[in-house]
Amino acid sequence: MNAMNVVILAAGQGKRMRSELPKVLHPIAGKPLLAHVIDTARELDAGRICVVYGHGGERVRQALDAPDLGWALQEPQLGTGHAVLQALPQLDPTAPTLVLYGDVPLIRAATLRRLIEVAGGDRLALLTAHCADPHGYGRIVRVHGKVTRIVEEKDADDAERAIREINTGILVAPGAALARWLPRLGKANVQGEYYLTDIVALAVAEGMEVAAAHPGANWETDGVNSKSQLARLERIHQRNIAEALMEQGVTLADPDRIDVRGSLACERDVAIDVGCVFEGAVKLGAGVTVGAHCVLKDCRIEAGARILPFCHIDGATVGPLGVVGPYARLRPGAALAEDVHIGNFVEVKNSTIAAHSKANHLAYIGDATVGSRVNVGAGTITCNYDGAHKHRTVIEDDVFIGSDTQLVAPVTVGKGATLGAGTTLTKDAPPDALTVSRPKQISVAGWKRPVKQKKD
Ligand code: UD1
Ligand code: CA
Repeated sequence: MNAMNVVILAAGQGKRMRSELPKVLHPIAGKPLLAHVIDTARELDAGRICVVYGHGGERVRQALDAPDLGWALQEPQLGTGHAVLQALPQLDPTAPTLVLYGDVPLIRAATLRRLIEVAGGDRLALLTAHCADPHGYGRIVRVHGKVTRIVEEKDADDAERAIREINTGILVAPGAALARWLPRLGKANVQGEYYLTDIVALAVAEGMEVAAAHPGANWETDGVNSKSQLARLERIHQRNIAEALMEQGVTLADPDRIDVRGSLACERDVAIDVGCVFEGAVKLGAGVTVGAHCVLKDCRIEAGARILPFCHIDGATVGPLGVVGPYARLRPGAALAEDVHIGNFVEVKNSTIAAHSKANHLAYIGDATVGSRVNVGAGTITCNYDGAHKHRTVIEDDVFIGSDTQLVAPVTVGKGATLGAGTTLTKDAPPDALTVSRPKQISVAGWKRPVKQKKD
């Protein structure tokens, strides 16, 4: 059997989203609905993946285009049968074709593999589900247990509407048969659409066996038509991610209060408090703890480090045994070595900070190279930007920087130097010396404060 074709239907409009953004570009876990389906298709042995697009047209294509994807424009949208017909020229007729929906994002590869297996090379296979409220779905009509056709809700009579087995829409059909059937579909139905579901009756008429498989969980085949459904699937997806993390040994204060929008890789004994958001690729080393309400994006936190509540970390690394926060901001290019402490209201950007250094309160460290065992006092600022260019600040090992100091870059503070509080450093500070720039303190004896004149 040749590698399968996958067709993803994504031409529908999605009016009920009430949005300028095409429906299939709305995100779940930070990733467009359609991208979830494409990624699942990639997990299968798919020879070709063809997306049928229409509404939002080029925007959808541009957002998700990749070398392994084919695109078929469906304009106007005349039904699901018409949609698959648009993809037909791109499909290998000697291989089975799997039809997926771009707005059914949580379908799992394992379920699809079961469907593909029951289809074999020569059967039509439908993914069907039993549900308490089948309203709105196509119903699976069986005679003596065998599937004979699908009837849409709007075309069904009362007896058919009572059927609880519904068509999820996902199916596998032999390529050659699909090519035979699609051009023969009519639109003599209540909606005047070309129904893909009518291929079932055509298969049965040819004597082809129609098989069925079922999803492992009903949410796998739930579609997104509204913001409410989008939010519901987001929560289900996040809960699945949380369960997988706990399965790996991660401690979650509340599995319903974590959001992972990318990949989160955790070593042993990681603990995550409530309300954290992880974006992009985040790695947490052994024993890392993340306090409540942190946002971590594209970063690596090494073994034993503690991220205290309310931190924002983006494109940074925190070394082993580091302590960050509460209320710290690490921006891209912040690289903290072992046992570095970054405290409240400290911002670090594009700077390396060597082992055992501390900036515990209210500081800005930008474009700096900071040595080991440096103490950065409260209110210290690297003045890295002159309005046109960025300049570097170099702070060597064992420096002590007094509070409220400005380091006007480019500038170097030599090893072991001390900067007095309030210094505005505009020239290099020599090693092992005290440098202080501060007007001499004076006291005026008997000085009187001005008083307001009383008017009568
Ligand atoms: C379809 C099935 C129905 C099934 C239901 C599951 C048909 C005729 N009916 O219903 O049996 O229970 O899905 O949700 O197939 N689309 C296009 N082009 C079109 C029409 C639709 O690309 O011209 C896409 C939509 O974007 C969507 C999918 O096909 O991703 C299904 O369309 P939708 O209108 O939601 O499904 P129904 O036709 O109502
Ligand atoms: Ca429809």
